[in-house]
Amino acid sequence: MESAKAVQQKTKIFLITSCKGGVGKSTVAANIAMALANHGKRVLLVDCDFSNRSLDLILGCEEEVVYDICDLVTGRAPASRVVMQDGREGRLNFIAAPHFKKDEFTPEQFAEAVEAAAKEFFCEYVFIDTPGALDGTLPLVSKAADGALIVTSHQPTTVRGAEKTGYQLEDLGVKEQYLIINSYDKKGVLDGTSPGLNWLIDHTHVPLIGVIPESKELEKAQISGKLACEMRRDREKAHEAFDEVARRLCGERIPIMSYLPEKKRRKLLYS
Ligand SMILES: Nc1ncnc2c1ncn2[C@@H]1O[C@H](COP(=O)(O)OP(=O)(O)O)[C@@H](O)[C@H]1O
Ligand SMILES: [Mg+2]
Repeated sequence: MESAKAVQQKTKIFLITSCKGGVGKSTVAANIAMALANHGKRVLLVDCDFSNRSLDLILGCEEEVVYDICDLVTGRAPASRVVMQDGREGRLNFIAAPHFKKDEFTPEQFAEAVEAAAKEFFCEYVFIDTPGALDGTLPLVSKAADGALIVTSHQPTTVRGAEKTGYQLEDLGVKEQYLIINSYDKKGVLDGTSPGLNWLIDHTHVPLIGVIPESKELEKAQISGKLACEMRRDREKAHEAFDEVARRLCGERIPIMSYLPEKKRRKLLYS
């Protein structure tokens, strides 16, 4: 086990964002956080979607939420009360969003509060679920961030939104950016009705870190507060896809879509 000091020195804070709602930010945030916790990392997941909080529902802990990130930043409640521990995996810590944002605070106050909470709970990774573009949250939270995971789907408007989000983040000083393609439609890519990976990378100008398949089972599991790692049957391999992103974030050099057979993977990569 690493010493608390060693852990404190390398906290890495990522925004998980996209220009549009419904792309899968919160799903991706919760599942990558859990995948890293399952790999023995201590993780802090922060819901900063002030108009549509949902991580409490995705984690299945909505009944237990008392305090939120605004309580922490404004000093109304200490981290020991605001940070919740996930019942399944003690290494996964969580801060809920308020139902409605009720307080004003500065980017500096936000960054200071999140960094202090991560230190107090010895977290190596922090993920901040935040809507991008015009909502105004990105400038508020980006001062805290070392990097960003930009989530997109195949939809051309979402791809354009991901590109825009990348430029906006760059202006805000968040240079380390990775693309996550969510709800990847293998069948559509092979029959030419959905754009392939190269097109998506070219049109967002963001390096790819992972591809999460479209998974009906994942969607169904979410209704009962379950994450990908708890799904009994996952033909679409969503669990393995989140695990792959977690391992790549930890620095492992593994191919994109390593969860697919070599032949299928190659076919998809070059479509
Ligand atoms: N890979 C996926 N496969 C199938 N459904 C998904 C996938 N990712 C997200 N969803 C579904 O899409 C909807 C929106 O996801 P959500 O994470 O809430 O998006 P956002 O946070 O960007 O608004 C949810 O119903 C979720 O279950
Ligand atoms: Mg969301």
